[in-house]
Amino acid sequence: MPQWQALARHREELGEVHLRELFAEDPRRGERYGVQVGDLYLDYSKNLVTDETLRLLRELAEAAGVAGLRDAMFRGERINTTERRAVLHTALRAPRDAVIEVDGENVVPAVHAVLDRMSDFARRVRAGEWTGHTGRRIRNVVNIGIGGSDLGPAMAYEALRAYTDRELDVRFVSNVDGADLYEALRDLDPAETLFVVASKTFTTIETITNATSAKDWLLQGLGAGEDAVARHFVALSTNTEAVAKFGIDTANMFEFWDWVGGRYSYDSAIGLSLMIAIGPDRFHEMLDGFRTVDEHFRTAPPEENAPLLLGLLGVWYGSFFDAQSHAVLPYSHYLSKFTAYLQQLDMESNGKSVDRRGEPVDWQTGPVVWGTPGTNGQHAYFQLLHQGTKLIPADLIGFARPVDTLPPALAAQHDLLMANLFAQGQALAFGKTEEEVRAEGVGEEQVPHRTFRGNRPTTTILAAELTPSVLGQLVALYEHKVFVQGAVWNVNSFDQWGVELGKALAKRIEPALTEGARVEGLDASTSALAARYRALRGR
Ligand code: F6P
Repeated sequence: MPQWQALARHREELGEVHLRELFAEDPRRGERYGVQVGDLYLDYSKNLVTDETLRLLRELAEAAGVAGLRDAMFRGERINTTERRAVLHTALRAPRDAVIEVDGENVVPAVHAVLDRMSDFARRVRAGEWTGHTGRRIRNVVNIGIGGSDLGPAMAYEALRAYTDRELDVRFVSNVDGADLYEALRDLDPAETLFVVASKTFTTIETITNATSAKDWLLQGLGAGEDAVARHFVALSTNTEAVAKFGIDTANMFEFWDWVGGRYSYDSAIGLSLMIAIGPDRFHEMLDGFRTVDEHFRTAPPEENAPLLLGLLGVWYGSFFDAQSHAVLPYSHYLSKFTAYLQQLDMESNGKSVDRRGEPVDWQTGPVVWGTPGTNGQHAYFQLLHQGTKLIPADLIGFARPVDTLPPALAAQHDLLMANLFAQGQALAFGKTEEEVRAEGVGEEQVPHRTFRGNRPTTTILAAELTPSVLGQLVALYEHKVFVQGAVWNVNSFDQWGVELGKALAKRIEPALTEGARVEGLDASTSALAARYRALRGR
């Protein structure tokens, strides 16, 4: 594309331009390069861009048809071409009176019917009206799911802990490693435990295996028969038949639809455990937050469109600076699972190497997304961010106020937390010159070690407080950012065929581990490892 070539030329012209120069040239850069979406303020001034870069990136987005694809998504067209599905997570937070059609049918009434059933169920559990088989109140909720059926609700539960009913213990089990379920259940009373089995397909081996073990644990613990299952198991799925086959009453099933991708699903029925924890009102506030950013993404002009901007910055670094990864660093303990959640959202979406027509791409697609909350990361891997040889763009996310529930003595630590966020952004951008180091009287042999080149790009995302609405806004911001990047790179961001091969192979390999079966097609390394495994197990 000529727009791509123009950016490549522009990249060469920029050369090694330093953020110090860019800030010196424009004293208003700090305010000019800022955008507000809902309650989120994005400062993108510490990125390696000029007005010209931003203009060229917007032209690229226009030429790549980002706006057209966005509108097709919102309209419910089948933009997930390999699975022939619409991509309508935005319908999950549409207002009751909206009309969004798939194959001529308005899906919004069904979305709200499920939300209403979820709200009713969550209220009954929270009020102690929904009791277990023996009539005892439910005090523990265990969500069993994996991938999108785990990461979303688990992340949001952590994020919104301050808003949860502290009388309820909500836990998340995902790994097929039996230790995960064991540790989650070992101190729980089955009579007070509700299992929420979350699986879009209801065929995922990890989830079905864990749910089966959980059922055995329950029935043994209660000394009861299958009829006890109805009070202790609910299902969140698109697959009614498989739910019934598993033995869960479909009256206790909360439905969603094939047009909700797993990694885009936590504001659907998949959010039930979260809704039980925070209550329906807070859940609806979160949906409102999502909607705020959906509307912004759909209608804001390109210059002020925050997801478009974030997406294009990622394209700029990945495709024109060869950055391989992107760090997301929340300065909030409550966002401890946020980056893990984004890993699936981003890497399962844009970890592709053929374009929408199936032709190999010869440009970089999705980055490795990683990060953990500040300030912990500062004492682990930030050294590499500051002085390593790799360019790693980063998002710094922080909040002006701690959550209301923190006691004053601990809330007082918040300024120190945020001072660290701002300090990191400044140090990464501006570094420390040799002259500055020498001026401190440092011996000449130490100067290179103590010099920070700087020029490491960051975007700072700041909001007043981490509320349910703000969480919804943040997640929607990243959902649409990932969308923009997929659209520019011309990949289908909504399938995940790459995960299938490993799943199929695991099924084939298992008999080689258990029965020593000869499995056709095993490579020499894997069959030798299987034999060694059997020997170690004494088989
Ligand atoms: O990892 C592949 C995947 O299909 C994800 O996309 C999905 O979120 C996860 O498995 C779980 O799938 P399900 O909800 O169908 O159990």
